[in-house]
Amino acid sequence: MPRPAPQIPVDDLTPAQAEAELARLAAEIATHDAAYYREDAPLVSDADYDALRRRNLAIEIRFPELKRPDSPSERVGAGPSEKFAKVRHAVPMLSLDNAFADQDVVDFADRVRRFLRLGEAEVAFTAEPKIDGLSCNLRYEGGRLVSAATRGDGLEGENVTLNVKTIPDVPGVLPRGVPEIVEVRGEVYMGHAEFAKLNERQREAGDKVFANPRNAAAGSLRQLDWRITAARPLRFFAYAWGEMSAMPAETQMGMVQAFADWGFVINPLLVLARSTEELLAHYRRIEASRASLGYDIDGVVYKVDRLDWQQRLGFVSRSPRWAVAHKFPAEKATTILRDIEIQVGRTGALTPVAKLEPVTVGGVVVSNATLHNPDEIARLDVRKGDTVVVQRAGDVIPQILGVVEGLRPAEAVPYVFPSVCPCPLHTPVVREETATGAEGAVRRCTGEFACPFQRQEHLRHFVSRRAFDIEGIGEKQIEFFFSDPDLPVKEPADLFTLAERDAGNLRKLKDKEGFGATSAAKLFAAIDERRTISLERLVYALGIRNVGETTARSLARAYGSWEAFHAAAVAVAAGDGQAREEMDAIDQIGETVIDSIGRYFAEEHNLRIVERLVEQLTGGIRDAEQPKSDTAVAGKTIVFTGTLEKLTREEAKAQAERLGAKVSGSVSAKTDLVVAGPGAGSKLAKARELGVAVIDEDQWIALTGR
Ligand code: IVH
Repeated sequence: MPRPAPQIPVDDLTPAQAEAELARLAAEIATHDAAYYREDAPLVSDADYDALRRRNLAIEIRFPELKRPDSPSERVGAGPSEKFAKVRHAVPMLSLDNAFADQDVVDFADRVRRFLRLGEAEVAFTAEPKIDGLSCNLRYEGGRLVSAATRGDGLEGENVTLNVKTIPDVPGVLPRGVPEIVEVRGEVYMGHAEFAKLNERQREAGDKVFANPRNAAAGSLRQLDWRITAARPLRFFAYAWGEMSAMPAETQMGMVQAFADWGFVINPLLVLARSTEELLAHYRRIEASRASLGYDIDGVVYKVDRLDWQQRLGFVSRSPRWAVAHKFPAEKATTILRDIEIQVGRTGALTPVAKLEPVTVGGVVVSNATLHNPDEIARLDVRKGDTVVVQRAGDVIPQILGVVEGLRPAEAVPYVFPSVCPCPLHTPVVREETATGAEGAVRRCTGEFACPFQRQEHLRHFVSRRAFDIEGIGEKQIEFFFSDPDLPVKEPADLFTLAERDAGNLRKLKDKEGFGATSAAKLFAAIDERRTISLERLVYALGIRNVGETTARSLARAYGSWEAFHAAAVAVAAGDGQAREEMDAIDQIGETVIDSIGRYFAEEHNLRIVERLVEQLTGGIRDAEQPKSDTAVAGKTIVFTGTLEKLTREEAKAQAERLGAKVSGSVSAKTDLVVAGPGAGSKLAKARELGVAVIDEDQWIALTGR
């Protein structure tokens, strides 16, 4: 992961820099939210994510007038995914503010006292582990579980009722005498032992292996088929509530006790503390027992015990004033760096990886750490044999923070980055140029398709979820097939000829380790299913540099059919100026992408690979879905501004594009329509000035018939 650019201290930012930075942070946080909440695949550690949010907030506090309508501080998480029916929460599901240092906890307690004008009076707080799972709202009417929903964006979540009903910790029926409406909230999570077993099963079946228990819990709960959830060992801790037609207690502790009486599982480490000292003491106790709990926690949550005080304290934007999450610091350890290994990515990028003497960091054994690129190695001056400080934060790959210089062996020499690729071809390595022509940090193998390492990575990309999404084929299988002497798979087309080469009778595959007759048959069926593919997936799967999913979609939409895209790409490769101009005119396609496409299709070897693949796609390549041309907004340029309350920004944008409109970020004379929500500012004013039509969210929904 690239090291972030040095940051200008918030106090030194000019308004223009602040505005740009807020825009960047909003986009970056939204990307992380989507990855975390929707894809269950976080891109950064919790600590880095929190740092982004904190910086965003600090800038907003200094420049309140620059706060964006889509400010991340007003949002929790990402909108619900498209697969599940949506449930609007009767009471929003909010997030917690974070504390990192002890002083933050002292400040929190002081704020509470000041807000309530309590002077030095004693305030009782509950303290309990912050479970690293996903929160869920369980709604009971007349004592029966009627609905269960994930948090989603805090306002609307996903309906996972059937799935939740399979969790043994969740009672389906509550005892007599409970209030008519009860909403219990808590965390769905997976224990360490169950997680390990599940991954073992997944690995054996060639299915997705989860990165950590949280992702496994999220992936298991959000299954469209509840029977799959039932087979996953999920658990639930109750710790909060939503709508209640009557309150069984007057304190936080009393409420959670009531939940226990009703049959919910509550966390055994929940205590009542009467001072900041007691809170911090409990924090240390929980931290000390962290590794032996059997499930992941990432901090301790403190909540004001008295509910009338909670009520008075209320909320600030996305989190309650009466609670805080005291996070654990990223975990560190020292160990010895045995070696530096070079890994080769799909596009030939060489990534140095530190091979470490295995060491336990926060309960997880770490034996690899990323070193990013040669510049990072030089910056750290890390050498073989060095004792290094390793940090593991959240889910990300462990990092090396520095070298313990006093422990450096006398014979240790500075590391020299290889000038040839470690692949069997030993192709020369080049230093990549950045977009501005400057020397970049990344070194690349120039072997391209001749390089077996790159070929394997390319195959991995080809079968991945957003590309051909072939079930049952993951990293392990690719490795296995790539070097298999009987049934080698060296390029995408080879996958499609596997069955035929296996004489269709599973003779060879069946005898191979880990391949029963059924799993081989299943594999062939999964591959066959992908003989029909959408144009955008195909374009993405080709693995052209700089052509990600969005770019592939733009290309697919613009060219419509494989034949048209292919002809254009070949023409660009041949230096056809007109073809290039046409490609340049496509939304979101620029010089870098065009050059990459040109280079890819200029390579004879690539052309053959593509040709052989397309021959196998006997079910046909589905033309791209054309944006509609017969809707009220087709061909119009639309700007969304202000807060949307019923749709997420992303949803509104996707919907507009589906209906054939173009969504733009700024208002100009070319804008046809502005959809403005509460808090709309300069864009709305500009629209008025230019006489552009302005409607609100409800009118937009009415117009588009959602
Ligand atoms: S209380 C209004 N208690 O942390 C606040 N949350 O960062 C209600 N979490 O969405 C949440 N353990 O997913 C609370 N003991 C605990 C928790 C907990 C984990 C999660 C929960 C929440 C997130 C907020």
